[in-house]
Amino acid sequence: MTDSEKLWGGRFTERPHETFAAFNDSFRFDRRIFTADLRCSIAHARALDRAGLISCEELDAIVGGLTQLQADSVIDAEFFKSDAEDVHSFIESKLVEAIGDAGRKLHTGRSRNDQVATAFRLWLRDEIDEVSVLIKDLQGAILDIAEGFRDAVMPGYTHMQRAQPILFAHWCLAYFEMLKRDRERLADVYRRVNVLPLGSGALAGTGFPIDREAIAAELGFGSVTANSIDAVSDRDFAIEFVATCSLVMVHLSRLAEDMILYCSAEFGFIKLSDSVSSGSSLMPQKKNPDALELLRGKAGRVFGHNMALLAMMKGLPLAYNKDMQEDKEAVFDTVDTVKISLRAAAIVVENTVVDEERTFDAAISGYLNATELADYLVRKGMPFRTAHDAVGKLVLLAIEQGKELNALSLDEMRSVSSEISDDVFDSLSLESALASRSAVGGTSPERVGQQLQAAREGLEFQL
Ligand code: ARG
Repeated sequence: MTDSEKLWGGRFTERPHETFAAFNDSFRFDRRIFTADLRCSIAHARALDRAGLISCEELDAIVGGLTQLQADSVIDAEFFKSDAEDVHSFIESKLVEAIGDAGRKLHTGRSRNDQVATAFRLWLRDEIDEVSVLIKDLQGAILDIAEGFRDAVMPGYTHMQRAQPILFAHWCLAYFEMLKRDRERLADVYRRVNVLPLGSGALAGTGFPIDREAIAAELGFGSVTANSIDAVSDRDFAIEFVATCSLVMVHLSRLAEDMILYCSAEFGFIKLSDSVSSGSSLMPQKKNPDALELLRGKAGRVFGHNMALLAMMKGLPLAYNKDMQEDKEAVFDTVDTVKISLRAAAIVVENTVVDEERTFDAAISGYLNATELADYLVRKGMPFRTAHDAVGKLVLLAIEQGKELNALSLDEMRSVSSEISDDVFDSLSLESALASRSAVGGTSPERVGQQLQAAREGLEFQL
């Protein structure tokens, strides 16, 4: 590109310094919104035509030229080889090269400031849809494994100590719920992304009778921005998208961490297939859950982008500032990271089996039924705090004797309360511990069955 071809060449008498150009140019990464920018330009050209600012022939030339650029970009491997400043100047110079003077009219009534905000939002809309579908796929994989091991019982943990028995499917459904909220948040972000800035000009609004509503309708935007200054300087939409993705990554990292623990020899609750595990270059026996560790680790990258965007926007004066060009790479890498992470999480879950014997054994040892015993005493009329204390004493006794609670004799049990009778042993069974948790959201097999069904139906129904 020669000096005079720079979008802003007229006022300048010197070429940009090489280092400045390398620092300033964004084409190496913002070419990613090439197609979105073309679509916005076509809609803008139609608006110029409707406003009588270009002729029918010029419109045809512009639309034809832009459409051709799209086609060329797919077939020509060298297409993007250019020293253009950014994707917007790249498209404009290519268009002028192809169709001549009509191309020089395209930028009438717009600025790169409203242009980039529009193209970026348009691009992000589609990505939000894709991320949402990938979350849905992972939810589906989670439901599959939950249904596949419908009767598996395992210990639930608090403080990483065995707490109460739960169904494996109940643990699965916890992650299903987190991901469901992530999708809801994405849908909400989508609504605010889906607002059209084009027609805001550089900051003060466009000086031509451009029908913004018509452009919005053509590009599928739900509404138009209400303030031109805000429209060109707002990047909230990018920040809330990355923040939402940060939460997705939090959820994936927790799933990963649970699974890393559960597939260790110490737990032995689950086994990952070889296809999603790695070996050690040194220790021949090793089978490592690398995919899960990366899920845990990659969360940090996305949090970093979230922080970078907040720091970049903090204290920026109105309206557009070049600082904001930094939004692209943060969002691009967030999209790439969250998409591959969701795909990886789904295949790991699909390639996991539960060792139901191990989880069962773990669920029936370690006094996980102590709460059941306290609840039993409450049902016999004892205040809960008193019952808690009494059962604590029994647990101590059982620990001393090296047995489980249900292995104590009735007499030993009755040493803490004469209310205890034979039926206590039933209430200490695993079946009864599970069945008793029957309030909405609880781990009783009946409730979990309903929740699984509701989850499956909800998944089909959503988006
Ligand atoms: N590449 C720029 C960005 O991403 C486009 C907008 C440039 N506007 C300007 N007035 N220099 O923000």
